[in-house]
Amino acid sequence: MPAKVDMDKIVSLCKRRGLIFPSSEIYGGLASCWDYGPMGVELKRNVRDAWWKSIVHERDDVVGLDTSIMMHPGVWAASGHIDSFTDPLVECKSCHLRWRADAVEGQGCPKCGGELTEPRMFNLMFKTSMGPVEEEASTIYLRPETAQGIFVNFDNVITTSRKKLPLGIAQIGKSFRNEITTGNFIFRTREFEHMELEYFVKPGTDEEWLDYWVKERFDWYVKLGVRKENLRLRQHGKDELAHYARDCYDIEYLFPMGWSELEGIANRGDFDLIQHAKCSGKELSYYDNEAGEKYVPYVIEPSAGVDRSVLAFLVDAYDEEEVEGEKRTVLHLHRSLAPIKVAVLPLSRNEKLTPLAKEVFNKLCPNFVTDYDDSQSIGRRYRRQDEIGTPFCITIDFESLEDKQVTIRERDSLAQIRVPVKELKKVIEAKLKGEAFDASALWATRQK
Ligand code: GAP
Repeated sequence: MPAKVDMDKIVSLCKRRGLIFPSSEIYGGLASCWDYGPMGVELKRNVRDAWWKSIVHERDDVVGLDTSIMMHPGVWAASGHIDSFTDPLVECKSCHLRWRADAVEGQGCPKCGGELTEPRMFNLMFKTSMGPVEEEASTIYLRPETAQGIFVNFDNVITTSRKKLPLGIAQIGKSFRNEITTGNFIFRTREFEHMELEYFVKPGTDEEWLDYWVKERFDWYVKLGVRKENLRLRQHGKDELAHYARDCYDIEYLFPMGWSELEGIANRGDFDLIQHAKCSGKELSYYDNEAGEKYVPYVIEPSAGVDRSVLAFLVDAYDEEEVEGEKRTVLHLHRSLAPIKVAVLPLSRNEKLTPLAKEVFNKLCPNFVTDYDDSQSIGRRYRRQDEIGTPFCITIDFESLEDKQVTIRERDSLAQIRVPVKELKKVIEAKLKGEAFDASALWATRQK
């Protein structure tokens, strides 16, 4: 099935509407680095919040954590990242471009056809030094995953939270990987944000929990509006499992460049706790009071990328439609993800309309992320809000001054309804919750 939208269209919309800009653009940019603009920062925050709500707040078996990006170098020796977090790298002997050996098709350089070197293993961790005098400073690494911050705090969390297993520890934060090949916009970058859950279970129950989390995570994307036909599951073959994994499933999404990994859900077994116990000398096990037994828990790990999720949500929401003979670009984002929930749009910048429009804005903005826009024609302002996925636009016209009613225009159906200003907050609240709000007594429905 062909992908529905070109990546170029997504990149251009993101730039045009303040979602995502190339990083350091005035200096010519920095490869694979991107900055989130005023709309992007809201979208990204909404993705994080939706994950945290479903993983931490709506459950009583998961707690949160926020650990340091820089960690003791011993962590990365124990976790296997110093030895095994590598990709095979080849270099072109003519143009000196470097490639991931397993991504090169054929014999020669994909750019110029030149001869390639033999593959050598390249570690993906960013190294830096800690301390004021470089020669004496110790080498440390920027974390390539947030997971290790969770494993090394396992005992702290178990003893302070007094929770029983199964117990999950969740974390959202930046990770860094010196990827050999990046690209496809924010799909693969060297700095990105992880949303990771380490779910600690009794050995023997791990396969059941793996199935559970695969389903939970798949459903999360669907609940947030991603079409089921654009998602699929793929189990890793034995030869592609990471060094720590006993089993792993990828949730794949049909990105513009084809089916690619959106999230991985792995059964890490007891690999990490055993390794950290061995290397730190600190026992990392769990005493089950009820059963009177001690064991090292197994870990199920759903690991997602914030940025990659943002990309999937954008691609899935993107649409070009014809409305009354005019083309409109629209993001059908789920209302909980939309950067702006309501836009207040007086019919024109008119001194009679402005006070009521401002009154409406002031009423709404403490409750919802609200935009106020009175520039250009109302049609252009609707188009602008459609392009960033604003679910509701409120228009204040001259009739509003008489009857104290305003028009709500819905992004997807384009239906317009008239609502008394004093009921506006209640109506928007219900609509944002997805409730069918029967307020027929309050308004007269207008045909578009
Ligand atoms: N702790 C396990 C782990 O990190 P992973 O499959 O390497 O597993 C999990 O990464 C998710 O993190 C990926 O499915 C993807 O969404 C995101 N991710 C990984 N590397 C990325 C990169 N270079 N750029 C953007 N997102 C990335």
